[in-house]
Amino acid sequence: MAIELKIPGIREYVLDRLDAILNPKSVAVVGASRKEGKIGHTVVKNLIQGGFKGKIYPINPKADEILGLKAYPSLKDVPDEVDLAIIVVPAKITPQVIREAGEKGVKGLVVITAGFSEVGNKELEDEIVRIAREYKMPLIGPNVVGVLNANVNLNASFAQDLPYPGKIAFISQSGALVIGLIGWTHMYRVGISKIVSIGNKADVDFSELITYFAERDPETKVIAIYMEGTDAGRELVEATKRAMKAGKVVVILKGGRSKRGELATMSHTGSLAGSAKVYQAAFKQGYVIEVDNLTELYDVPLALANQPPAKNDNIIVITNGGGAGVLATDAAERYGIPLSDTPSELKKILRNFMPPFGSDKNPVDLTGQANEEDYYGAIVETAKFPGVGGIVALYCHTAITDPMKLAQKIRDAAKVANERGIPVTVSMIGGEEVERANLWLREQGVPAYPTPERAVRAMGALRQFGRYLEKIKRVS
Ligand code: ACO
Repeated sequence: MAIELKIPGIREYVLDRLDAILNPKSVAVVGASRKEGKIGHTVVKNLIQGGFKGKIYPINPKADEILGLKAYPSLKDVPDEVDLAIIVVPAKITPQVIREAGEKGVKGLVVITAGFSEVGNKELEDEIVRIAREYKMPLIGPNVVGVLNANVNLNASFAQDLPYPGKIAFISQSGALVIGLIGWTHMYRVGISKIVSIGNKADVDFSELITYFAERDPETKVIAIYMEGTDAGRELVEATKRAMKAGKVVVILKGGRSKRGELATMSHTGSLAGSAKVYQAAFKQGYVIEVDNLTELYDVPLALANQPPAKNDNIIVITNGGGAGVLATDAAERYGIPLSDTPSELKKILRNFMPPFGSDKNPVDLTGQANEEDYYGAIVETAKFPGVGGIVALYCHTAITDPMKLAQKIRDAAKVANERGIPVTVSMIGGEEVERANLWLREQGVPAYPTPERAVRAMGALRQFGRYLEKIKRVS
């Protein structure tokens, strides 16, 4: 019987079963290799070393034991239920092991194996999808790195490490980007809840994962995506709208926006990148925040996951350096939050935190002699002032301030602002000592960046999130 392989809308059974893939109680690795250095060996090692608390079943007809765990000749020989099967056998025997998984009653599949539509082997890919659908097993992949859940120490992949834990779910059409960026999450304290490498997305598409994260995963607040293309545009827009209705925002970096980039996506994941304009329009319609590069793909979700959305356009920039303030002003225009002047009543209050030669205009310049108490007072009073939408605090390192002490005061002030629903982003500019203060702020939930432009980009996204929330309330 012919099956329409394009997803027929967002499927309920997939949403029901994705939890067994991302929060499994038991994991089988089919193709668990005895040989160190092989992917099938590394996946078992990662499950053990990551600290996964559930059961792990290596499957290999030639082995009795792998890395100290009893191995089974086939899935059918496993005495217990299997939630998730990771497939790491060569492509040609994949249909056979997927059928065995179905007969065993496995709930979901992650197919790491490559060699399908990305190299023109569409028939074999269609075959594994047909079998998986016959048994209602959602299939992630093929051609993926795996899946990771930082909250339950699940590293069901051949990525080197679990990510830094947090509230951002990351879906990537590039496995290599997943592997590379996990290091960043630790270096830059970008907290991740779950990672799904989606590869050829032959069965489960973006839309189903987005809907799962939006409606069924309380650990996720923001959904960040690296996308090359989708053949389920309507479902994508439906899913991102459902996410916004659930108060969660989707951030997408779209690859293949240039002519040659579009060709490159074809040989990478077999995806048609499609016209950038069509995607842009769909993203706008679906309340998506589109970002331009990998730096933004981390900077923006970091802010969205940790700060409240900005409720209006009145953003106040507070700085100790004129140049940083000017750059922030330019960036504000670029990112859709052009600055307007400080309200006159607020100007009077802010005068208490600056010398006579400071500037109470927006950007507010506390001057180079500002200390941590001046920053604290200026941020808190601005947050308390009616009608303020958000605050961007900038600091250029001077010898009169200890960056860590200042960071602590900024964190305290940001807490007061957040309690009032006012978001705060920060940029501390300077050397290693200052960068440590930025990282400490991130650990505390205050998005802090090395440049003013990045702090303003993050605030622009917080305002865009605020606008989307207002709009969806109006239309629904
Ligand atoms: N059931 C279970 N295990 C079996 C079966 C079976 N029916 N048949 C064979 N095996 C065992 C093999 O004996 C072997 O174990 P051993 O090493 O102990 O003998 C193991 O399964 C693996 O089989 P191999 O034939 O050795 O396959 P190999 O490990 O060389 O390759 C792999 C398998 C990794 C899936 C490969 O085909 C592949 O697709 N590699 C690319 C993966 C990839 O890059 N994915 C995309 C990632 S995204 C990115 O871009 C980074």
